[in-house]
Amino acid sequence: MKVDGKDYRTVWMEGSSVFLIEQNLLPFDFRIYEAKNYLETCRAIKTMKVRGAGAVGEAAGFAMAQAFLEALENTFGEYIEKAKKDIEATRPTAQNLFYTVSRVFAAAKKSTEPGKTAVVEAQKIADEDVEACKRIGEYGNELIRDGFNIETHCNAGWLAFVDYGTALSPIYLAHRSGKKVFVYVDETRPRNQGAKLTAWELKNEGVPYVILPDNAGAYLMFQGKIDIMIVGADRIARNGDVANKIGTFEKAIVAKEFGVPFYVAAPSSTFDLNCNSGRDIPIEERDEDEVLYQTGLTGEGNLEKILVCSPGSKAINPVFDITPAKYISGIITEKGIIEPWAIKV
Ligand code: MRU
Repeated sequence: MKVDGKDYRTVWMEGSSVFLIEQNLLPFDFRIYEAKNYLETCRAIKTMKVRGAGAVGEAAGFAMAQAFLEALENTFGEYIEKAKKDIEATRPTAQNLFYTVSRVFAAAKKSTEPGKTAVVEAQKIADEDVEACKRIGEYGNELIRDGFNIETHCNAGWLAFVDYGTALSPIYLAHRSGKKVFVYVDETRPRNQGAKLTAWELKNEGVPYVILPDNAGAYLMFQGKIDIMIVGADRIARNGDVANKIGTFEKAIVAKEFGVPFYVAAPSSTFDLNCNSGRDIPIEERDEDEVLYQTGLTGEGNLEKILVCSPGSKAINPVFDITPAKYISGIITEKGIIEPWAIKV
């Protein structure tokens, strides 16, 4: 995708460093962060400098490659085993993280040039993701009619998946093919990935949009303002249950109530056939400060974190929820649109 006319991927590797768009600063500041070793990349994933299932997966794959490059001959085995554990401990829900780490690890371990092989494999996965997201866009575009109003939750755009994105990919293709589309962007508390990141992406692409408070979705659907809802996924279980950003489940229930088609967009690398149902998917809990404080731009143009809740309050912060398959109209994959109860990868 282009930022100020220049092509970017969300995360990439050059030499032994991983470079990523610093998402915590967006939309106020556009900066590239360089992680010089696998531990720095782990920290970037944990602190959400890079976030979104696919981008987290890519960063994790590159981190695994960094570890293979860093490992010294006499402690090689221990070093890469520890690195794998460290990387997998950064964020527990996004299936793409486990998918890329295990692929890079397996390819490099059996190679005579492990460092080189690890980098090649991680890069190959990133390229496959780009192609898969493009195809998701093509299949999803078939669901979008001229004049459609589309609601989306969180950020499932190119910031969340190296390029194109998942839920936003069909929207970009529809817009580029000349269809008139309008996007309702859920703000997505507590971290506001919708209000900050999706809004920034759509503005860059020239797609008309408006941000809505998270609790306004039912009212809009009641008014008949939403034609289709498309969201991404962090992990999809064998029975079609979907883990995605907290609040997705509520949207799906409301969509069903008002007969609004509810689609999930995700490549096959997000499916976890080892999870029989959504109940088997680990759900990440993050620090309560993400709920209690908000970060934004002051009138003087400084980025500031301020308390927005009653001082001394405690908060809970489960960051994903599970949408049962029965609420999902279809899953848009790179292989076509499938019914959630007909999964075989
Ligand atoms: O906590 P985040 O910002 O990493 O969560 C991101 C989401 O939940 C996205 O909707 C999801 O990754 C799907 S897009 C790849």
